[in-house]
Amino acid sequence: MHRRITDKLVVATHNPGKLAEMNELLAPYGIAAVSAGELGLAEPEETGNDFRSNAAIKAIAAAQATGLAAFADDSGIVVDALDGAPGIYSARWAGPSKDFNAAMAQIERLLQERGATTPDRRTAHFVSALCVAWPDDHREEVEARVDGTLIWPPRGTAGFGYDPMFLPDGHDRTFGEMTSIEKHGLPPLGLGLSHRARAFVKLAEICLEPR
Ligand code: IMP
Repeated sequence: MHRRITDKLVVATHNPGKLAEMNELLAPYGIAAVSAGELGLAEPEETGNDFRSNAAIKAIAAAQATGLAAFADDSGIVVDALDGAPGIYSARWAGPSKDFNAAMAQIERLLQERGATTPDRRTAHFVSALCVAWPDDHREEVEARVDGTLIWPPRGTAGFGYDPMFLPDGHDRTFGEMTSIEKHGLPPLGLGLSHRARAFVKLAEICLEPR
């Protein structure tokens, strides 16, 4: 049996951007989000082998610490010609200074080394795993992806992370050239295109009721 989120939700992030994005998504459902950062919760180590387990580790830690339902996400980019790298290490490839231009250049260097110069050898996908955990250990988990091709040089200044080199399938602009509404927005306003938007739609179907 799926469980609904009812009133208050701890968002297991210390990132104000992620909290703002969650608040926007949760507003139509009358759910108030409070962040782990605001509550002064420690950030657990992400020791999982995949996106799903890292999301669960973060959600469970926040639910146990607060006694409330807690939400966490984990995401990243999976490059086929690089055997799935950077994957769960997507944030870490940018280093402590969060230099995503360097991280994109590193991907390009490795693709060139492997002779991945044609679009069919440069396929990649973003993954978003979402988990809601309750203090009694109940969990709801969903995962979604968006497929595309990596281009070089990167294009566009919108978005973040690896957006400027990611061309989603069926589109001629990179995520870096799309507005946030186009990329993440849910229908009817947006296309529900991104991995996070798609995962959130799945989570809403099982855990949320419009007010
Ligand atoms: P985490 O989910 O906070 O562990 O970080 C995931 C990392 O994956 C981010 O720092 C980005 O580098 C990358 N990433 C995840 N989603 C996106 C996206 O929508 N666009 C660009 N990069 C992303």
